[in-house]
Amino acid sequence: MNKTSVLFVCLGNICRSPTAHAVFQSMVQTRALAEQVTVDSAGTGDWHLGHAPDRRTSAVAAERGYPMDDLRARLVEPGDFEQFDYIVAMDEENLANLRAMCPADYHGNLGLFLDYSVNPEYADTNAVPDPYYGGDNGFTLVLDLVEDASAGLLDHIAAQL
Ligand code: 4NP
Repeated sequence: MNKTSVLFVCLGNICRSPTAHAVFQSMVQTRALAEQVTVDSAGTGDWHLGHAPDRRTSAVAAERGYPMDDLRARLVEPGDFEQFDYIVAMDEENLANLRAMCPADYHGNLGLFLDYSVNPEYADTNAVPDPYYGGDNGFTLVLDLVEDASAGLLDHIAAQL
């Protein structure tokens, strides 16, 4: 049985990537793929190491039934490129930081999360916008974008299992 591992990456690992982690994990469980697909998240910045997700993030996620109580921020580390088949960046800046760390012999898929969007409404959007310094609407938009791209990414992975 093939197994696939997915790492979601943003800047602080307290807003966007934990949202993706929780939503994608929930979809994996709903589709009974937990034995085959493993999920984690990390950040490229070290301000919030060990912290739980931002309260605004966990509040909107809880409204849609995605628990994230167990998540804690960590940094992307070199070993992640040995462990993860998919390393998925929330925006171009995260992707550039990951490319700078990525070993030349990495054989996985390093790319942008929104490349897996399915809703045509998001066809021209290539970044999950950083909500940290903005209002509550930003956190809802993160969740909308993450739900859509998670469905697309899981379809893509499930087709190859
Ligand atoms: P995230 O959001 O990258 O989606 O977790 C941020 C969280 C914290 C900061 C920036 C972005 N910060 O500058 O502390």
